[in-house]
Amino acid sequence: MEEVAAVSATDAVQDSCSLDNYLSQPDHTMDDRIAAARATLGTDVVLLGHHYQRDEVIRFADYTGDSYKLSKIASQTDAKYMLFCGVHFMAETADVLAKPWQQVILPDLNAGCSMADMAEIGQVEDCWESLGPDGKSELIPLTYMNSAAAIKAFCGERGGLVCTSSNARGAFEWAFARGEKILFLPDQHLGRNTAFAMGIPLSEMVVWDPYQINGGVSPDRLKAAKIILWKGHCSVHQRFLPEHVDRIRSNYPQMQVIVHPECRWEVCQKADAIGSTERIIEVIEKAPEGASFAVGTEIHLVNRLAKRFAPLGKKIITLDDSGCLCTTMYRISPQHLAWALENLVQGNVVNRIKVDDDVKHWAKVALDRMLEVR
Ligand code: 13P
Ligand code: SF4
Repeated sequence: MEEVAAVSATDAVQDSCSLDNYLSQPDHTMDDRIAAARATLGTDVVLLGHHYQRDEVIRFADYTGDSYKLSKIASQTDAKYMLFCGVHFMAETADVLAKPWQQVILPDLNAGCSMADMAEIGQVEDCWESLGPDGKSELIPLTYMNSAAAIKAFCGERGGLVCTSSNARGAFEWAFARGEKILFLPDQHLGRNTAFAMGIPLSEMVVWDPYQINGGVSPDRLKAAKIILWKGHCSVHQRFLPEHVDRIRSNYPQMQVIVHPECRWEVCQKADAIGSTERIIEVIEKAPEGASFAVGTEIHLVNRLAKRFAPLGKKIITLDDSGCLCTTMYRISPQHLAWALENLVQGNVVNRIKVDDDVKHWAKVALDRMLEVR
């Protein structure tokens, strides 16, 4: 007689919840399933959605926001599960700020951030070490939210903090109240744009290249610098160029240019306004009917704004015709969302993001300082 492998009820459920079964289905077939799973889970789950998420995903979010707003919500919610529709560093941050009984889920673990990957903790420790005791007395380490939890912890432990694009200036002021120099990780552009806006000349900023001996900076220049910028950037925002602004000026003289501060300094200098994703939305919301904007940020947000404000007589276009896409944000699909939610309904927590306890302590110190700064 043929032997039949025993399949337990649990195996059967896990099999039906396997990701492959979802990925082979079209997007729209997930809508009802996502809605039904959400209804079953009720207030046990909260869905946080970053503004760069695609429409098919963000429409299910309980809260949308920039990274500052979403981390604030993560620190306040009492939901048992936080499902983060965003990228890895955002989910890590939510876990650091969560209460001990809460769990954070990232629907696709491949949703990382190329900028965050440009600073590894070992490289940052080497940089700190090579600055020597003289080089780092009075130096405050400050990291952009777009970094690994270990780097946030590194900053917290050494008297520094985290910032986002919406409170970078406040964080710089916080640091300058406690030291004379800042090591800014990992986005050179946000660091340069913020420091310059505070009146620090470019000549007092140096770029530390982790792939060069002593960062590729001479000891004299390091000594004279007020700001040490890590050599990192966002591959999406880096694509916006000053000539894109020039083209808008000549084709649409009435149009305002608003860009994210991850754009190059040369682009920000030519723009009419600079702001985080939340700020960009606010500026456009407050603009009078008939206003028009060329926006230098991720294409999903720009397209959503264009659709939302067209009936109000506002014209929104992307600053760069080819439209810059964040491929890692795009990884969160309706299929991944349905998979994570239906697994939760079955009692399975998939793709949990859990920061190690030893890293958590100092990362939380740095993040709490961030939440106090506006
Ligand atoms: P915001 O905090 O402005 O939403 O920016 C996050 C981000 O990753 C931009 O690239
Ligand atoms: Fe990272 Fe740039 Fe994507 Fe933001 S847009 S998540 S900085 S790669």
